[in-house]
Order: sequence, then structure tokens, then C-alpha cells
Amino acid sequence: MSGHSTYVPKTGFERWLDARLPIVRLMHDSAVSYPVPRNLNYLWTFGGILVFMLVAQIVTGVILAMHYTPHATMAFNSVEHIMRDVNFGWLLRYLHSNGASMFFVAVYVHIFRGLYYGSYKAPREVLWILGVVIFLLMMATAFMGYVLPWGQMSFWGATVITNLFSALPVVGETIVTFLWGGYSVDNPTLNRFFSLHYLLPFMIFGVVILHIWALHVVGQNNPTGVEVKNVQKDTVPFTPYATIKDIFGMVCFIFVFAYFVFYQPNFMGHADNYIPANPAVTPTHIVPEWYFLPFYAILRAIPDKLGGVLAMFAAIAVLAFLPWLDTSKVKSMRYRPVARVLFWAFLVVCIVLGYLGAMPAEEPFVTYSRIFTALYFGYFISLVLVGIFEKPAKLPNSIADSVLANTKGGSGASLAAATASEPNAKG
Ligand code: HEM
Repeated sequence: MSGHSTYVPKTGFERWLDARLPIVRLMHDSAVSYPVPRNLNYLWTFGGILVFMLVAQIVTGVILAMHYTPHATMAFNSVEHIMRDVNFGWLLRYLHSNGASMFFVAVYVHIFRGLYYGSYKAPREVLWILGVVIFLLMMATAFMGYVLPWGQMSFWGATVITNLFSALPVVGETIVTFLWGGYSVDNPTLNRFFSLHYLLPFMIFGVVILHIWALHVVGQNNPTGVEVKNVQKDTVPFTPYATIKDIFGMVCFIFVFAYFVFYQPNFMGHADNYIPANPAVTPTHIVPEWYFLPFYAILRAIPDKLGGVLAMFAAIAVLAFLPWLDTSKVKSMRYRPVARVLFWAFLVVCIVLGYLGAMPAEEPFVTYSRIFTALYFGYFISLVLVGIFEKPAKLPNSIADSVLANTKGGSGASLAAATASEPNAKG
């Protein structure tokens, strides 16, 4: 898809550098002339938003780390010191904590966009699986980050989740002791979580580079799910078309982000985390951050501890097999009448699971959690069958055709003329 390079060095220096390290050529070919389908909607701006959020989390995190103390007796107070004494410390902390939530909002939109438009299907399987790896790394990072303020939820959340590993036969207890660095969640646990919380975002960064590399090999999917046939007619150059759209999407996203940071900075957090960690007092209700809730509901739905842990990991792992579970040849749900209904039902199932994860582990929530866990996995099984029996709607012949079909009469004709004269790097 990236095709041959269209970069022409202009100055003597550019020619000199290009012969030694063609980095400007790389940037030009992947961010300027790179052809993108002309029909991408705003859901395609979330990849760029995610890159922005990753960088924002790293920058705010590195500065927070300059003022934070990873010690069980000082961590809580050092966070209060950041909030009260450090210049703009409150802003840094709220940007980072709300940033984590916004990062997950963006990644969930990004994943569901992929599910709706079948972006996981050939030839994008590796791109998708790299995404699942990023998602897992993000969850590990967020979980360890939440432990750092050493409040009640930090401590008890860490205790509940690390304890899950004890369900593994034979090696379980050894793994838990190894994770804790002792016989309970304590200072060594906090220390290693801090170290890993600092490391993992850079690993995410590395996988994101692979993710974008894989994307640039196969090219973007698009709302029709029909692949690019004629680069001249079906695509536009990344700059200015996609860049300007991405920037606009990003600015809108930043407004929402800013609303939470400045007006509702603790809306997505839990009040108990403003109480210092106390191993002697268990909170009445231990809940993880909102973005873990659907998986937490699946964990608690299974009566057996090991079974719950396996179901929770299976709920994420099953995503990696989706390219092979979905048997339909048609990518976009726009043209899949049955799968489309199942998709929306699946979205509702995930939201209900999130709600159930926030409820106490008692009836009727436990029974509902079991039903909705079954429905969650049911979606993946149904895709195997629906792909075989479903009769898809007629696909457009090409991306350009679908764009032209959306315009009526005169405007269609003028768009056709515009298509013919469209400036395109591949031209
Ligand atoms: C730090 C997290 C992530 C970053 C920075 C990131 C970045 C990007 C970017 C820049 C794009 C191209 C623009 C777009 O299509 O929106 C993209 C596309 C894509 N991403 Fe991600 N991504 C992340 C996480 C994920 C996850 C968790 C998944 C799936 C589990 C995923 C699956 C995909 C797929 C399938 C595409 C191609 C979409 C298409 O062309 O239709 N990504 N990603």
C-alpha cells in the first residue's frame, strides 16, 4: 500500500542526508503522501488521538515521577505534596489520572470501530493482534499505576487482583509471593509496580510503532470494507486530508478531556483512594477503575476462582482469534444485516457487564453476570455461524463508487469531476 517513494529531496542538505539516513523520506512517505481511503469517517481519527494520549501520559508521568516517592510510608503523602505544593502539580496529576480514563475511552472507540468495520480481517490480522497486545499492556500499566497513590483502593485492588494468581495449580502461591516480593502487598510490591509502571508505556510505544508499520503495509480499511482498487480514484493523500481531520478530531477530544480535568477531576476515580492504605481495614466494596469493570464482572461470574481467572483472560484472548472466528468474506457491518444487529447487541452486553462489575457480588447481579458472560462469548461463536448463513447486502464496486452513490444529481457529477482532478501523490 505504501508503494514506492514519492519524496524528492529539494536542498543539497536534504540530498546529502537522504543518501545516509532517509528519515525525511520515511516521514514524507508515511505522513504526507501516504494514500488513505477518501471515505474515512471521524472514527478513523481515534488512532491519532491514541498516539496523542500515549505521548501525553508519558510526558505527565515522567514529570510526576520527579516528585513522587515509591515507598509505602511516603507514597500517599508525596501525592498530596504534588497536589498542594508542586507548581501546577494538581494539573499534572489530574491530567495523568483523567488521561488514563480518556485513553481507555479512545481505545474502546478504536476497538469497536475495528469490530464494526471488520478491520481485523485479512490482510489486517497482524495489525489487529498487535492492537490486542497493546490493549493488554495498557491494562497492566493502568492497574499498576492505580496502586501508586497507596490509597485504600490502591492497596485492596492490588491485593484482590494479585491474589487471583494463587488460583493457578501448583505454581500459584509461588507466583503471588514473587509478585508481592514478600507475603503480602507491601513496600516491595509498591516498588516493583512503580518500576514496571514507568517501563511499560515505553514498551507500548514500541508495539505502537509495529502497529503503525503493519498499518502502512496493508493500508487503512474504510467504512465500506472494500479494499482500495484504484489509488487515483479511491484515495487522497494523508496530508492535508487526514491530517486536518485528525487534528480536528483531536481538538474535540481535548475539549472533553479538559472538561473532566478542570470541572470533574475525580468523577472517574473512587473516593476511598483519598484514604491512606490500611491493611487492617478492608473497604466494604472493592471496585476497580471503570475500564476494567466488564472483565471484573466476567471474573466474578464464574463460581470457581481458577475458572473466573481463565474466563477473564479468555475474554481478552478471544479478540486475538477474531480474524479466524468471523467466517464472513464481507468486512463492514454496513452490508451484514444479521451481524450488524449482533454487533449492537454485543456493545450493550459489554456496557451491562460494566454495570454488573460495579455492583456488589450478590443476587440478582451474580445471575445476571453469568447470563451476560455467556452472551459475551456467544457473540464470538455466533460470528462463526452467521458468516456462513448470512446473505450480505450488495457491496459497492469500489470506494469511489460508494462515495459517488451518496451524492445526488448535479453534486454527484461535480464530485465525479473533482475525483478526476483530485491531486494525489500516487498520480
Ligand atoms: C496505544 C494504543 C493504540 C494506538 C496509539 C493505535 C494507533 C493506531 C493508528 C494511528 C491507526 C491508524 C488510524 C486509525 O485507523 O484510527 C490505527 C489503526 C488500527 N488499530 Fe490501533 N492503536 C492502538 C490500539 C489498538 C488496539 C487496542 C486495537 C485492537 C485491539 C487496535 C486495532 C487497530 C486496527 C484494526 C487498525 C486499522 C483500522 C482500519 O484501518 O480500519 N489498535 N491504530
